[in-house]
Amino acid sequence: MDQNAKKQAVALAALEYIKPDTVIGVGTGSTVNFFIDALASIKHTFAGAVSSSKASTDRLSALGIEVFELNDVDSLSIYVDGADEVTEHKHMIKGGGAALTQEKIVCAVAKTFVCIVDDSKQVPVLGKFPLPVEVIPMARSYVARELVKLGGDPVYRQGVITDNGNVILDVHNLTIINPRELEATINNIAGVVTNGIFALRGADVVLAATDNGVATFK
Ligand code: A5P
Repeated sequence: MDQNAKKQAVALAALEYIKPDTVIGVGTGSTVNFFIDALASIKHTFAGAVSSSKASTDRLSALGIEVFELNDVDSLSIYVDGADEVTEHKHMIKGGGAALTQEKIVCAVAKTFVCIVDDSKQVPVLGKFPLPVEVIPMARSYVARELVKLGGDPVYRQGVITDNGNVILDVHNLTIINPRELEATINNIAGVVTNGIFALRGADVVLAATDNGVATFK
């Protein structure tokens, strides 16, 4: 099975987690795009969506799915999103598409986080994928120096401005043994908006598409 077929299979599997008449949190990325397309076929069974990026909002709206502002909803039954890396502890690196901050906010509100990946994203330890860190532009050099002190090798993602008007540093050469601790430490650097480790609030369910079908990890 090729990678797109796996993304589509895992996106379809996530539909089973949708609760009728509730509002759904929707992530960002190529895997989620398959999920959004699948949502369109059942759009009359749920109340609408809260989106984590302009890209996902545009895709949801184009398919006739109502998109609510997060401030206008009381709760989200689930949040469905992809990941760049995920471990057996359901900790993740996210933010390859620069949408990490709004993803983390929407994820925080949702009762259940369903992470959808193909099996290329499953890793024993986080860190081979460069860790995205969203930074207030004026703090870029300071934050980069602090990230070097933590053992990383930050690279400015040239030409990328996030939906929040900030910049991204991608931190190479980290071996993330304690993701919860590193997530908190990096978020404590002045000028960091958030980083792409999702461990303090990890996934509740990981669905991973393999050649033999979709595996579920709870
Ligand atoms: C967006 O910023 C990311 O967090 C994505 O969720 C992540 O990069 C996975 O994207 P793909 O499904 O395109 O691999």
